[in-house]
Amino acid sequence: MKNKLFYIITALILLASVTFWIYMFQSSGSELSEPDTPDYFDGSFELTMYHAEGCGCCVEWAKYLENNGVQVKSEMVADLHEVKREKGVPGQLSSCHTAVADGYIIEGHVPIEDIRRLLAERPAVIGVSVPGMPPNSPGMDQPVENTYQSVIFDEESMYIYNTHN
Ligand code: CU
Ligand code: CU
Repeated sequence: MKNKLFYIITALILLASVTFWIYMFQSSGSELSEPDTPDYFDGSFELTMYHAEGCGCCVEWAKYLENNGVQVKSEMVADLHEVKREKGVPGQLSSCHTAVADGYIIEGHVPIEDIRRLLAERPAVIGVSVPGMPPNSPGMDQPVENTYQSVIFDEESMYIYNTHN
């Protein structure tokens, strides 16, 4: 009887360790198959930027996009706050200009890679923002050390999309 119990316990331990190793192998396998860089939209696209009169950094951001192959249309508006309200930009994410590209809102000095990633991944959000005007963001172009984040947002929530420095 004792022998029988010994075999049963040994068999259970063996089964548990085999299950454990299969699990380990599978999880490391799926880690390897995950892409280590996000997909980027690599086509040409149009972007309409709404900005206020006399906004120099808005013009600089538009030039930066054009240098990256984007077709930019600029529209000067009298009331930018109204545009932001209408497009659903949360107050704490607002910046100096509001743009639209392929149905997504692009708020502020957003780097091109975040726009291309958004257009490739097409998450169910309103858009992406770089809140405020980080001094080293594209179009601001000040040679300072600073870390800033882009944020994707919908009506209820916001998530950090990328970190830049
Ligand atoms: Cu600006
Ligand atoms: Cu601007």
